[in-house]
Amino acid sequence: MDYALEARNVAHSYGRGAQRVRVLDGFSLSVETGAFDALMGPSGSGKSTFLHLAAGLIAPDSGSIRVGGTEIAGLSDSAAAKFRRRRTGVVFQDFNLLESLTVAENIVLPAKLDGVRPDRARLDELLSALGLEKLRDKRPGSISGGERQRAAIARALFRKPGLILADEPTGNLDSAAARSLCALLSDLNKSENCAILLVTHDPIVAASAGKVHFLKDGKIAGTRPTGGDPDAVARAYMETCK
Ligand SMILES: Nc1ncnc2c1ncn2[C@@H]1O[C@H](COP(=O)(O)OP(=O)(O)OP(=O)(O)O)[C@@H](O)[C@H]1O
Ligand SMILES: [Mg+2]
Repeated sequence: MDYALEARNVAHSYGRGAQRVRVLDGFSLSVETGAFDALMGPSGSGKSTFLHLAAGLIAPDSGSIRVGGTEIAGLSDSAAAKFRRRRTGVVFQDFNLLESLTVAENIVLPAKLDGVRPDRARLDELLSALGLEKLRDKRPGSISGGERQRAAIARALFRKPGLILADEPTGNLDSAAARSLCALLSDLNKSENCAILLVTHDPIVAASAGKVHFLKDGKIAGTRPTGGDPDAVARAYMETCK
């Protein structure tokens, strides 16, 4: 089996000395190439921490994290940033779009940072796939939360990464916008052949993924197929995490 993301026995703590808190301990999770998985767990259980580790934004105390077969746990900060811009698309809840740039400029920024001339046809393709054509020259501050979220997804997809990491991407959206974002992610997962690991608190959102992993007490306490059934996901969450 090939994996887009494979974490083995990861430990991560914050703070020093008496303040030290171990958030992840014996954490193992894998996402198969091209799969769409969700990650659920109580608030404070370490979901965002794991996405930051998988994106190479922070380094684990110990353990192995492979993205598309490359071990990222030991990369230097600059190598990790470069790797992330090329191979991983990251979508955070606060979008991280730059207000001084237009939607289109934000989308091509990671390529520009690597000195790569942005592919205009790819930009047009994504603007159209995400319904952003009319907004390409707008600033993030003058478009809606759902539109900003779609722009952040277009930026994450621009360089055809093998893996998208998304942290509660529907967190700021109303339920209709959340549903349409889930349908969009599910379509992009197939059309772009890109694996997705999606963190969410919402069983309806998690049910749009193929599998869901439950995080509790620093490790994955269970993984199951969603069957596209939010009620089954909610029941399994209650059984595993409460
Ligand atoms: N930079 C940091 N320094 C110290 N502690 C941190 C830091 N970031 C997170 N923590 C702590 O680590 C734990 C896990 O945080 P994390 O943000 O990963 O949780 P989460 O599962 O994403 O929660 P939520 O569902 O509320 O977003 C929490 O107890 C949090 O307070
Ligand atoms: Mg979080």
